[in-house]
Amino acid sequence: MNRIECERPGGPDVLKLATAPHPEPGAGEVLIKVAAAGVNRPDVLQRMGVYAPPPEASPILGLEVAGTIAAVGSGVTQWRAGDAVCALTPGGGYAEFCRTPAAHCLPIPAGLSLSEAAALPETAFTVWGNLFDRGRLAAGETVLVHGGTSGIGTMAIQLAKAFGATVIATARGDDKCAACRALGADVAIDYAATDFVAAAMAATGGRGVDVALDIVGGDYTARNLAALGMNGRLVLVGFQRGPAATVDLTMIMRKRLVITGSMLRPQSHDEKAALATALRTKVWPLIESGLIRPLINARFPLAEAAAAHRLMESSAHIGKIVLTVAD
Ligand SMILES: NC(=O)c1ccc[n+]([C@@H]2O[C@H](COP(=O)([O-])OP(=O)(O)OC[C@H]3O[C@@H](n4cnc5c(N)ncnc54)[C@H](OP(=O)(O)O)[C@@H]3O)[C@@H](O)[C@H]2O)c1
Repeated sequence: MNRIECERPGGPDVLKLATAPHPEPGAGEVLIKVAAAGVNRPDVLQRMGVYAPPPEASPILGLEVAGTIAAVGSGVTQWRAGDAVCALTPGGGYAEFCRTPAAHCLPIPAGLSLSEAAALPETAFTVWGNLFDRGRLAAGETVLVHGGTSGIGTMAIQLAKAFGATVIATARGDDKCAACRALGADVAIDYAATDFVAAAMAATGGRGVDVALDIVGGDYTARNLAALGMNGRLVLVGFQRGPAATVDLTMIMRKRLVITGSMLRPQSHDEKAALATALRTKVWPLIESGLIRPLINARFPLAEAAAAHRLMESSAHIGKIVLTVAD
């Protein structure tokens, strides 16, 4: 089969099309004939050599796919060869065939193409697990979503709105702010032109937000804590401005704040399976009703994975980037 290999850590040009034997599904796994694979920022970090895959995971890039089940491993009863699925993968998505646990697959939501469905799993699992499980976002609350036009942000805005929250999003520039509003954000802040803390305070009548979902980290941490109201929760899922932060502990105590976060990839088989179950019951019906849709910015053939990475690193995209692998 064809797959994308990373010759060595480096820029997008280290991504090369190569051939390899197709993988066999192990016990409890399915083998998916990949139609499309989502591109995510962690793929870029892995390619650069700063985000190593877990020891047992495939070293091939690609954390989400959609396609057709080609074979099932022993003990798999919920899927059969020929079923169309989208799936979270432990890596290996940039390939014509990819194996993943059967419990991490979901049906293609009615009305979505395979390439649209390939853009769902990584952001849906991440946002559900962080905004709702860890962040405890509830209807009637206000959430600050940083990077509203990122893959994560586009899913977070839509999910938060669908579950009754008021959404304040940050993004760079007028076009990205307009895109956030089109996705449902009540307020969009151009973080390059406006202090997001002051803007979030103004938008909440000085009360502060209930939850902040952050992909920025670094010096944003103290500012996020300042933007939170009483009993607020800061949920960290990325640290594009660095993993270290200095914060005012008295603010945490005075406002009774919670700082939490998580990484999806190192979580256990069962934790990811529980997320899949929650998504299937709570989120898939909203996708099928048309309330939530993956926003696809660009599609590239598998062989042009380097171009897909160049686009992601330019941050010119709004929404998701997808590799098309087969018709
Ligand atoms: N914890 C997890 O399990 C998990 C899973 C998946 C992804 N992630 C993380 O989530 C983040 C987004 O991933 P993705 O795949 O959605 O990437 P993506 O689509 O490439 O989004 C990254 C976005 O970050 C925005 N950004 C950069 N600096 C910013 C700032 N100071 N304020 C607001 N936005 C800023 C950029 O938009 P602008 O042009 O507007 O700056 C860029 O579009 C990454 O940090 C990734 O590592 C975490």
